[in-house]
Amino acid sequence: MNGPIIVFGARGQVGRELVSLATARGVPIVGLSRLDADITNETTVRAAFDVHRPIVAVNTAAYTSIDRAEREPELVTAANLMGPAILASICANLNVPLIHLSCDYVFNGAKKTAYVESDKVGPLNVYGRSKADAEAKIRELLPRHVILRTSMIYGAHGRNFLRNVLKLASEREELRMVGDQIGCPTATVDIAEAILAVVRKLSTDAKTSGTFHFAGTGATSWFGFASEIVQRQAIFTGRTPKVVEIKLSEYPTSASRPLNCELDSSKFKQVFGYAAVPWQHRVAEIVAAVIANANRKTAQAATPATITAK
Ligand SMILES: NC(=O)c1ccc[n+]([C@@H]2O[C@H](COP(=O)([O-])OP(=O)(O)OC[C@H]3O[C@@H](n4cnc5c(N)ncnc54)[C@H](OP(=O)(O)O)[C@@H]3O)[C@@H](O)[C@H]2O)c1
Repeated sequence: MNGPIIVFGARGQVGRELVSLATARGVPIVGLSRLDADITNETTVRAAFDVHRPIVAVNTAAYTSIDRAEREPELVTAANLMGPAILASICANLNVPLIHLSCDYVFNGAKKTAYVESDKVGPLNVYGRSKADAEAKIRELLPRHVILRTSMIYGAHGRNFLRNVLKLASEREELRMVGDQIGCPTATVDIAEAILAVVRKLSTDAKTSGTFHFAGTGATSWFGFASEIVQRQAIFTGRTPKVVEIKLSEYPTSASRPLNCELDSSKFKQVFGYAAVPWQHRVAEIVAAVIANANRKTAQAATPATITAK
């Protein structure tokens, strides 16, 4: 391969994991944060392509606060629709393929089984609408695209559900979690592996393009997800707060949410040859990693400075 992968939104949880995984594998990659390249600024984005001459672009940048999005639709449209449109038109100009991340919230959640790529979109909130509109825009502007819809992202870094639950479990005796919204928890390391699988395929097959679902293997509710996290952390902390199941209707939010967010990832596996490991395995690994990191930091803070003076 000649030239690096260029990643927009590299300070986010997926961007950061992707840059770290590719670097560990010796795959050339350039990660750009919002400060390096704001995707809503065409001049800056064009300059980034000129400087780095990438063979493929990955857009992990997005406005991702689902409830706040209801109050800030202009900011959402700028980051989630205008930004991707700018990337797609520059990629079309330079004949560079674009891998763009989208989400389960493009659907209305009324389906009784897992969503497949050909299901009709019907977003229920501002965030979901912006993601669905961006998908349509990318398809219109750029034939060489891979749109990856994913779900419930979590990892060892950044703002995510697993880290929130660990914090709550350390502070509270009871956690109330929604049991009737279902999705597929997806670890950042799995989505990073999936993106690298797409890059490999794109480098040997110029015709690959389209929309694909890629999510963690297995589906559960926020209640099921939280229960697993609490169980795993108890091994290290001994803390056993109770997890209480509630309904989505008992958890008032500004944005309406789809009940069924389960994604069927079988087309992705067929085309790109990668499937995520079962989500419970990743939860076990990531809980252990987060707790080990926190313990290391505490130990470092408690170590007295070495006195070397005679
Ligand atoms: N999180 C989920 O559960 C989930 C589920 C399904 C799909 N997705 C999709 O997966 C993708 C990655 O999500 P994530 O969880 O990694 O998001 P994240 O942690 O919130 O990171 C998003 C990053 O995008 C950056 N950004 C926002 N606007 C930008 C702009 N105009 N120009 C450049 N960078 C900008 C943010 O910068 P700052 O750090 O400066 O704010 C942030 O670092 C997104 O497309 C998201 O919609 C997420």
